[in-house]
Amino acid sequence: MSRLSEHVRTIIVNAGEIAHMSHGDTNMPLLGHEMGDKSANVYEPGLGILIESGNICRIDDSREISDEFVSSWKEGSGITDGTRIIDAEGKAIIPGFVDSHSHLLWGGDRSNEIALRQSGMTYSEISGSGGGIGKTVRETRKLSLDELISIGKDRISRAISHGTTTIEVKSGYGLCVDSELKLLEAAGRIADISPIDIHPTWLGAHDVPKGMSKDAYVEELISEQLPKVASQGISKWADVFCEPGWFDIEETEDIIKAAKEYGLQSRLHVDEFVDSGGLSLAADLGSVSADHVAHSNHESRNLASKSGTMQTFLPGTPYVMGTKEYPPIADCIENRWAFSLASDFNPNCNSLSIPFVGSLAAHRCDIDPISALSAVTRNPSTTLGYGSSNPVGTLSNGSHANLNILISETVDVWCQTPGMNPISATVVRGIL
Ligand code: NIG
Ligand code: FE
Repeated sequence: MSRLSEHVRTIIVNAGEIAHMSHGDTNMPLLGHEMGDKSANVYEPGLGILIESGNICRIDDSREISDEFVSSWKEGSGITDGTRIIDAEGKAIIPGFVDSHSHLLWGGDRSNEIALRQSGMTYSEISGSGGGIGKTVRETRKLSLDELISIGKDRISRAISHGTTTIEVKSGYGLCVDSELKLLEAAGRIADISPIDIHPTWLGAHDVPKGMSKDAYVEELISEQLPKVASQGISKWADVFCEPGWFDIEETEDIIKAAKEYGLQSRLHVDEFVDSGGLSLAADLGSVSADHVAHSNHESRNLASKSGTMQTFLPGTPYVMGTKEYPPIADCIENRWAFSLASDFNPNCNSLSIPFVGSLAAHRCDIDPISALSAVTRNPSTTLGYGSSNPVGTLSNGSHANLNILISETVDVWCQTPGMNPISATVVRGIL
């Protein structure tokens, strides 16, 4: 909150294109070809943005805004008359990214697994031989709360430097009551001190801990972890890794139905390696989002669309695993199915760069840059519970003033600098 009062008013002048992404009803995700409709979602260059107390309150001609709010402003002068001035120097502006799927908090290192994959082992075989999630759980359990907070703070700074201004953060590398609660507490403590919004999700059902039967662990999830997570109010969502070899459809249903009784909504990992009916279950359960969905069938995608379940694609994961086929994201545009894109940052997919995810969508999955931008801004924001009066992911009157100034005049470049950061500055609640 101190950041909000620091500079009550900020104006951004001399904007290049501004991707406002606010076409139509901003409570709803953009769908189909509206996602990439540049004339409906992007303003021409020459505008400025007036920000008061962390929110956008006007987007108008740049000169008019500076004449009205700054009596003695000269280019490059910084702050004047109590108004903070940011000169965009003709560069394009886009909303801050909303990363709706991350595993931010873990310890250790899994970079040896690439050699195992290159020798022909699958994800599941690596996991069965002592690597994978189980290995990260062993390393993460050793970390104190303070160590987790310090690791998380550092990763949040890295995410912000790549333009992320809202992030969902899962637990899931504790797999026992104390360690799962510690991870969620760390996420909450990082949220308290971070400039950006952090949304924790309980993912106790990420794997079965070593030495325990699956039945016993599902019982622990439902009767021990869940009641504590709910009573401490440290998560809005429950997540399950619903995939053959991890949690099956029935187990997922039991966990999520129990979570619902405690008032937790769900976002799920489904159909990453095979179509096991995970997306169709997510639709049945009314999950806010079903993530990975690489192998889901057409009918389940239709059901998800009807139930308002966002399909969230995580193309960084097939990329790091060397999978030849990317998920069929373009089908979502043709069929008007709501979709998002997110980082899936985790020890196996060690990147917090949403522009990199955008590049995979654009350069590998045939998604145009403005549709890809909808999928990392407005669309995921609709799964995180922001009301229409003060949303994130769009740039219009009332929106959080979370935005990125790019390195070029056009917005389309945001996902077209693979391996290089396209962000020249990030503004969070009006503060540079
Ligand atoms: O979403 N697939 C399940 N969970 C993570 C990976 C976790 C890990 O490999 O550590 C994911 O890709
Ligand atoms: Fe994940």
